[in-house]
Amino acid sequence: MKTLNTDTAAARAPSRERLNTLDTLDVIPTGAALGAEIRGLDLSRPVPEDVKEALRKAWADHMVLLFRGQHIDDEQLLATSRIFGPPHEAAARKYYLDVGAKIDNAHTLSRHPSVSIIANVDEHGNPVRENSGLGSLEVVWHSDNSYVEVPPAGSMLYSLEVPVNGGGDTSFNNQYLAYEELPEEIKRAIEGKYQVHDATRNSAGVLRPGVKLPTRPEEVPGPKHPLVRVHPVTGRRALYLGRRRVWPSNYIIGLPNDESEALLDKLWAHATQPKYAWTHIWRVGEIVLWDNRCCMHYRTEIDPTQRRIMHRTTIKGEPVVAPW
Ligand code: OGA
Ligand code: MN
Repeated sequence: MKTLNTDTAAARAPSRERLNTLDTLDVIPTGAALGAEIRGLDLSRPVPEDVKEALRKAWADHMVLLFRGQHIDDEQLLATSRIFGPPHEAAARKYYLDVGAKIDNAHTLSRHPSVSIIANVDEHGNPVRENSGLGSLEVVWHSDNSYVEVPPAGSMLYSLEVPVNGGGDTSFNNQYLAYEELPEEIKRAIEGKYQVHDATRNSAGVLRPGVKLPTRPEEVPGPKHPLVRVHPVTGRRALYLGRRRVWPSNYIIGLPNDESEALLDKLWAHATQPKYAWTHIWRVGEIVLWDNRCCMHYRTEIDPTQRRIMHRTTIKGEPVVAPW
């Protein structure tokens, strides 16, 4: 009779059937200012309620969660995203539909309104430097969709194809810590202040389809949000900067232009220090979930000769609450 060799790592690891329990769930902090890897989950299979609860707690504690080795379709990605909240329709989608972009499900517009295809390919699937989205471009520090009235709580990015040593590394930073460590005089300077969040350009700086570039601050379209927000789950304060573009773009309401620019420069220099950040280098089959209410993210440029295909969901948020 054959006996099992119990002395191998494979034999000790839980079988896939035994995953998705509180016993198999592991939360392993990155050791940086934010982020944790979650192990012991197969997201193509049902996740019980107690495990979902533990995942929501891990998200509140660590701001960014990484799940490796997943093989899922869009329905399963949406189901995973729903653990953390209902879907939010990506704000960029309407700009593409308005200019007649077609839904093709492979390279540009997904048939699910809350799944975005984040890919550096053209409509034939060939890798390119620029397309109507983020292309292969560097993506500046930002939090998603801050240019709408009620921005998404979180975003979840799933890697289907990634370049080999070809860039597209994604960093995240902890804006609770950035707020807490602000010099006192800057904390005082931003108290009670709101910013207009520019909706004209995407996070790679590309003007959205059908949108006119503003020439004066009064022409910058977008909602106003406080420079500091209170996280609805943790109750903690975080800096909420959105994104930074050359003037005229985001500006602080009630300050002369030069003072608004000078204060934003100081805030951005502080908030984007490497000590607040953690970087993820992607492999295929990984999901990263981030919290737009207390983190920003950044992506390095991608080798435009290699395909990088990601599917992203966004999670419905709450109105932005100021601490004052
Ligand atoms: C996004 C984004 C970063 C990346 O999808 O919101 O900023 O790594 N993507 O592609
Ligand atoms: Mn983004």
